[in-house]
Amino acid sequence: MSERQGGQVSLTEHELSEIRMLIEERTSIRFDESRERFFSTRVQQHLVRKGHARGIDLLRAIKKTNHDFQELIESLLTQETTFFRYPGVFEAFEKRVLPELHTRKFWQNPRSFRIWSAGCSTGEEPYSVAITIADTLSFADAWNVEILATDIGRNALAIAERAVYSGRSIGSVSDKQLATHFQPAEGGQQIRPRIRKMINFVQMNLTNSVYVGKMDVIFCMNVLIYFSEERRRELVQHFYSVLEPGGYLFLGHSESISKMPVKFQAIVLNDCILYRKPTAEEAQKAELVTEGRA
Ligand SMILES: C[S@@+](CC[C@H](N)C(=O)[O-])C[C@H]1O[C@@H](n2cnc3c(N)ncnc32)[C@H](O)[C@@H]1O
Repeated sequence: MSERQGGQVSLTEHELSEIRMLIEERTSIRFDESRERFFSTRVQQHLVRKGHARGIDLLRAIKKTNHDFQELIESLLTQETTFFRYPGVFEAFEKRVLPELHTRKFWQNPRSFRIWSAGCSTGEEPYSVAITIADTLSFADAWNVEILATDIGRNALAIAERAVYSGRSIGSVSDKQLATHFQPAEGGQQIRPRIRKMINFVQMNLTNSVYVGKMDVIFCMNVLIYFSEERRRELVQHFYSVLEPGGYLFLGHSESISKMPVKFQAIVLNDCILYRKPTAEEAQKAELVTEGRA
């Protein structure tokens, strides 16, 4: 058994591996060989910060209380994000998804959209979605737009609630959007209340498949890459069941569901793939074609 010494702390390979397994079991996040160095360094730093002398003390603490577990998790999350991270995604959302939903739902009373940003990090993604809606639907205020933005990270959600951004994070926001949807605040530019009130931030662990109600669109970008193949499959299946017929799923650029047994239609637009849940009629037609009865 090899032992790592970091100042006063000792952390064995076995302890590290137990911590790794516990994290995967509770959050689905996997620290494979490619992230081994990052993982062990962060755990050691956490040990020092918390004043634990041995890995076993940390293990006991995180098994005992959710608070200690959450603190460790916060130091291990990868929360990189920016506004309009993939311009192609927001273009597809604006030019394809919103007009389609607008037409389909126009006669509904009340007129509403429900969108879920799953793994929203510090809020740039759901705010980009809200800004796109406000800029696209000329009478967005006449719609009841509800964006649920969830993440496992409490610190990230606190930043999202504060809604103050600066630097690289807002590098892709246009001058016009900055003037319309942001106002100067201490430390940067703060999203205006009109956009903020479209979003509800909630702490949620995707591993627990909590029921969130039916959604028209789900954004789950750059989250599944950290999960095992099996957990990814389960979550994509969960997203399918949560989506309304005709609803859309957006994943990150390197996340594909091509090998999964779900019945999404894959639509390639510019440099992105969007996944659409067929309507009941479309699904029935597809089945007839498959069975050769069309
Ligand atoms: C790289 S960020 C992606 C942010 C944003 N979606 C984007 O693409 O810019 C991944 C986010 O997933 C969150 N996350 C990881 N595992 C999670 C889980 N089990 N439940 C909920 N959120 C999770 C992390 O806290 C992090 O904020």
